[in-house]
Amino acid sequence: MTFCWVAAFLLLAYFCHSTVSCPASCKCYPGRTEVVCNEVPLTEFPTEGLPENTTMLTIQLTNITSISEHHLKATPLLRELHMYGNHLRSLSSRLLRGVPQLHTLDLTGNKLSDLPDDVFSDAPLQNLILKKNQLQKADAKWFPDTSILTWLDLSGNQITELSVGLSQRLPHLEILDVSDNRLEEMAPNSLHRLTKLQRLSLHNNKLETLDESVFRDTRNLTSLFLNGNQLSKLPQNLFQGLTRLTHLSLDDNQLTLIPKGLLDPLSSLEDGGLDLTVNPLLCDGEVEYLWRWLQQNKKKVLLADNFTCALPESLAGRSLISLTANDLNIGSQLS
Ligand SMILES: *[C@@H]1O[C@H](CO)[C@@H](O)[C@H](O)[C@H]1NC(C)=O
Ligand SMILES: *[C@@H]1O[C@H](CO)[C@@H](O)[C@H](O)[C@H]1NC(C)=O
Ligand SMILES: *[C@@H]1O[C@H](CO)[C@@H](O)[C@H](O)[C@H]1NC(C)=O
Ligand SMILES: *[C@@H]1O[C@H](CO)[C@@H](O)[C@H](O)[C@H]1NC(C)=O
Repeated sequence: MTFCWVAAFLLLAYFCHSTVSCPASCKCYPGRTEVVCNEVPLTEFPTEGLPENTTMLTIQLTNITSISEHHLKATPLLRELHMYGNHLRSLSSRLLRGVPQLHTLDLTGNKLSDLPDDVFSDAPLQNLILKKNQLQKADAKWFPDTSILTWLDLSGNQITELSVGLSQRLPHLEILDVSDNRLEEMAPNSLHRLTKLQRLSLHNNKLETLDESVFRDTRNLTSLFLNGNQLSKLPQNLFQGLTRLTHLSLDDNQLTLIPKGLLDPLSSLEDGGLDLTVNPLLCDGEVEYLWRWLQQNKKKVLLADNFTCALPESLAGRSLISLTANDLNIGSQLS
């Protein structure tokens, strides 16, 4: 009789444990193998009680400061890990060794400043979001030799340069966001091999110039954001080959001149797809190329009428497109 009671108790304990297994204060959705720990008083990764079949785990707005390979081993089937707005300061090397199916890792809004080698090796990562941390560099050594990453978001960090090796390791990238950082320059070959890149965001950095070969390999680009930098001069051949580009933002820079031929390769620009506003344009004889291009492509330019001359003083504030050949002292025939 005693034996029966004990057996019954053990059986009950077993079932209760396996069905209610879920970390304290998290929500588990067994049917879709998802676990969410939202704004709960956690200071450590909740390895205890995570269902082994968890495929999607969200831990946000907690006080967790680190994750290691050991923590993730508890959920070997994990495909997506979202860790938004925690206090993460460190990740272990080989972090992903125990999660061989992980394809999405979102670490937005943490305090990561330095990451160990091989931190993103070992899993078939496709989407990696490191937005709003305190990273000062993006290191090729974080990744395996054969990364299949397609989306990398490094926006909102303190990155000053993109290492050349990075693009070599990430030849499958389609979206790269390095906006809101401190890039001062781009090494000429920093984007080489990125033949699949479609969307590149470099806005709100400190770029002053770009090498003419920087976009040499990125011929599949459709959107390019260079606004909010300090670009004062662009090489004439910079956009050569970017025939698929539909959106180009160059607004809010220090451009005084658009060199002859710069915009000619951009045959796919959409209506309103080019933004040149907020640049200190010098409307002297050399503006002729841009002036003629605008006459022929007005619809492609966002707020074309608001695109104004800064100098010479006599034309300051005048919309470039409204000026006559006479105003500019150039021959009047449109070629
Ligand atoms: C995942 O495991 C839990 C027990 O831990 C079970 O209740 C649930 O049905 C499983 N989900 C799937 C989709 O297999
Ligand atoms: C995180 O820690 C701070 C300071 O100890 C505390 O005020 C806050 O409530 C904690 N957050 C959560 C979600 O427990
Ligand atoms: C460029 O984009 C097109 C259309 O999206 C795609 O078919 C092609 O494979 C891409 N080229 C490369 C090198 O990825
Ligand atoms: C564009 O110019 C018009 C007329 O000068 C002005 O009313 C409008 O506010 C400007 N728009 C922007 C976005 O600057």
